[in-house]
Order: sequence, then structure tokens, then C-alpha cells
Amino acid sequence: MSDADPRPTVLIVDDERGPRESLRMILEPSHRVLQCSRGSEALEVLRTRQVDVATLDLHMPGMRGDELMRAVRREFPSVEIIVITGCGSVASAAEAVRQGISDYLQKPFDVVQVTAAVARAVARRSARARLTRFLDELGRAVGCDREAQAVLDDLDASRGLRARFGEVFDSGGDARAAAGSRGFAFLELLAETIETKDRFMRGHARRVAFYTGLLAERLGLAPEEREGMRISAFLHDLGKVGVPTDLLLRPGALEPGERRIVEQHPVIGARLLAPLDLPSGTVLALRHHHEWWDGSGYPDGIAGERIPLAARIIAVADAFDAMTCDRPYRRALPREVVVAELRRFAGIQFDPDVAKEFLACLESGLCDPDPELLADAIASAAPSAPQAA
Ligand SMILES: [Fe+2]
Ligand SMILES: [Fe+2]
Repeated sequence: MSDADPRPTVLIVDDERGPRESLRMILEPSHRVLQCSRGSEALEVLRTRQVDVATLDLHMPGMRGDELMRAVRREFPSVEIIVITGCGSVASAAEAVRQGISDYLQKPFDVVQVTAAVARAVARRSARARLTRFLDELGRAVGCDREAQAVLDDLDASRGLRARFGEVFDSGGDARAAAGSRGFAFLELLAETIETKDRFMRGHARRVAFYTGLLAERLGLAPEEREGMRISAFLHDLGKVGVPTDLLLRPGALEPGERRIVEQHPVIGARLLAPLDLPSGTVLALRHHHEWWDGSGYPDGIAGERIPLAARIIAVADAFDAMTCDRPYRRALPREVVVAELRRFAGIQFDPDVAKEFLACLESGLCDPDPELLADAIASAAPSAPQAA
């Protein structure tokens, strides 16, 4: 089959011939199909061929399926993975989900299940590719060593970029549906795509959203309000797409001019969301997530209850995640140190009531993320200074 074949390519990895053949027969009419029976062979194929989706069996001789899944995630992050297994367990499903796979199917599978799962994976892959292109383009347009104001003017002026952003959003559901599950899934994908820019960011948005949701619930907020806050938390660092990657990854202190560029990320993020017709609270939470309770934060230097509650909650969640993860220049801080810092900065950086609630949450163990999030936190880390992720 020629490389000009426009059909998506699926790589089937299974040591048993039977399932391999039935998958091939199901998929061949509308996909290019490649097959192999061992993990090591699959990695070779991925190194030499362009593959859109890989279906992986978990139990194979030689390299185990879960090892293969991690290797594919690491080396080929844009390949969508579908796990198809005969003897799955809750643990293997949890691990697969943690790895960000597209689908998890049990054998025996049927035609409808397989075609639907592959179609979803192909759609996810092309949405991700569009997003990556969009973000690259945006990064090129805004990630230069120019004044942030010029960057923002560019964004305002560049209809092409604006239209592209809208188009990308529309592909996942219209902006008004952003609070709905389809919109939310899309925003989640957007947040994840941004994180691929910076390995220290991996999982940061997801964890900050987790702590934010928890805190919002503890503070007795209504479900719709909580959901809006979780969306804001997912997207809080969206504006980092406009910050040159080397500044995000710089291990040492930044020059004042560089710091000013990094500190524009809440403004850039809010500007990016502005034309998308999201609830204004979502946009404001993004803009103000680095304000300090005492008014010494950025970008607007507003203080106390003038800072939207969502932003005050995200600030605590963000700082907690930043401190409990490794950084380019230091390891994660021990829990006692994190608790002491949150106490010390309550009423200075953080809303004292929100900080108090979070500390109570920590003490009760409720704030401990589930094992997936914890593993994520250990495996990855967040960027920039302890109180300013
Ligand atoms: Fe931030
Ligand atoms: Fe952050």
C-alpha cells in the first residue's frame, strides 16, 4: 500500500493470531493495517512507519503489554492507544487510563465496539494534531522575545489565529457547551496538549483541577459553579503557550524582563478565551490566579475579596501542586514544609479561609489524590517558583 493512502494506519499488536486476524478483517476496509506479535517488534514498526492508532494486547511473551504501553506513550506520544485484553483487571485498567490511552476493550470484542473505539481514537488523534498545529503557530506568533503588550496586540490583530482557535474549539463542541461533558473533554485535551510543551507541567492542570474541585466542594459551592472552577483550573496556565519554552524550563532565577514575560501568562490565557463565549467567571479565574490576597500579586494587583473566589481557590491548589512536585531545580518539598508554607502565606498570598479549608482537608487525608494522580505527581513536576506555578 502506498504512503499516499489517506486512510488512517492502525497497528495491531497481539501474540495470538486469532484476535489479530479478526481485528485485521474488521479494520481493513477503511484503515491501513499493520500487525505484529511482540512488543519489541511493535516499537520497531513505530520507529519506521507513520502510525495513527495502536491496539495493544496486555499479555504477551517478552515485553509485557503494560511496558509496551508506557514505551509507546514515552516515545510516540501522538499515537493513540487502545488496549484490548483477555484478562484485564481494575489495576490494569487504571494504569491504562493513567497513561492517557484512548480506549480499553475486553476480549471477546465485537465489530461495533472495535470500529467505534478506533473511530474515536482517530478523531482524537486528528483533534490533537490540529491543536498542536494551532499551538505551534500561536507559539511562533507570540513566543518571541518581544514585549508582552506587542504579543497581545498581535493576538488581537491576528484574525487568522483567532479564527483558528474558534475552529479548533468548534470541532469539540461549541463554546457554549464548554461546561457540558463534551466541551469539558475537549478542554481537557487542550490542557493536556499545552502540557506537552513542558515536561515539568505534565499532569499539573489535571491535579490542580482535582484539588480545586475538592476545595470547591468543601466550601459548599453549587455543582455548576464547581464544574466551572474545574474548567478554569484545567486551563489556568493556558497562556503559557505564549511563553518561550526555555523560560519555562530555566532552572535558575529569571531576569526581571524575562519574569515580566512569564507573568503575562494569565493575561494571555484570558485573552485567548475571551472570544470563545465562555462564562465570564471562567475567564476571570484564569486572569487572576496569580493575584495575592495582600494585593502584591499580578497581573492587576487586586486584593482580598476583589479577587474572584475561583481564582483564590485555584491559587491554593496551584501552589500546593507546585510545591509537592519536582522542579527543574529542586525535588518535591516534604509534606510538613508544604503545610508550613501554606500556613505562613495564608492572609498574605492566600485567602485565609481557603487556605484553612485546604489545610483541614490535608489533615483529614481527603486531599490525598487518588493513586493515579499521586503516581502522576511523582512521575512529573510543575514549573516555576514554589508559589507561582
Ligand atoms: Fe500560572
Ligand atoms: Fe499553574
